[in-house]
Amino acid sequence: MKTLVLFYSYEGNTELIASEIAKTIGADQVRLHPREEKHYTGFMKYVWNGKSAVMREKPELEPIEKDLLSYDLIFFGTPVWAGSWAPVFNTLFERWNFTGKKIACFYCHAGGPGSIEKRFRRELSTASLLGFCGFVDPLWSKKREEQKQRAREWAWEMVRLATQDKR
Ligand SMILES: Cc1cc2nc3c(=O)[nH]c(=O)nc-3n(C[C@H](O)[C@H](O)[C@H](O)COP(=O)(O)O)c2cc1C
Repeated sequence: MKTLVLFYSYEGNTELIASEIAKTIGADQVRLHPREEKHYTGFMKYVWNGKSAVMREKPELEPIEKDLLSYDLIFFGTPVWAGSWAPVFNTLFERWNFTGKKIACFYCHAGGPGSIEKRFRRELSTASLLGFCGFVDPLWSKKREEQKQRAREWAWEMVRLATQDKR
């Protein structure tokens, strides 16, 4: 089964899990890059990126080298921003139609995942959504290894479900 891990990460947490999943199940990996990405720190990080998330902005993306729709199973990975996905996913969902694709979603957050799963469910209602997994700041967490282990187990579970999925 052709599998892709498609993710965005601002500070490395989602990237850690994305790499762990890709390595574990032997998937390709694509990181979404907004054309203009400013790296704010401290308070401004929340102000500007939070505004972009709340306004549901659709930032221009750097070209994606892979043919996303050629994959059978796609893992989407995002940090939670203001209770939802990072704005690059707004662009992705506008440009690509994932109808019929097997999808698994993971997200990294600081303790308040908000309504991200509900939003994914709504956005991907025509896809075959296999499952979700949330991680709490895995890069900075004392439970980093535990969270990586959970990512590996969840990834295999998603592959198993995808293999059985006949929708
Ligand atoms: C603009 C912004 C908004 C955020 N909003 C939330 C939120 O609503 N809930 C939450 O639990 N964490 C929130 N966070 C924290 C991140 O989701 C969390 O630190 C995540 O692990 C970062 O992933 P990354 O390192 O891949 O960027 C926010 C962070 C930023 C920068």
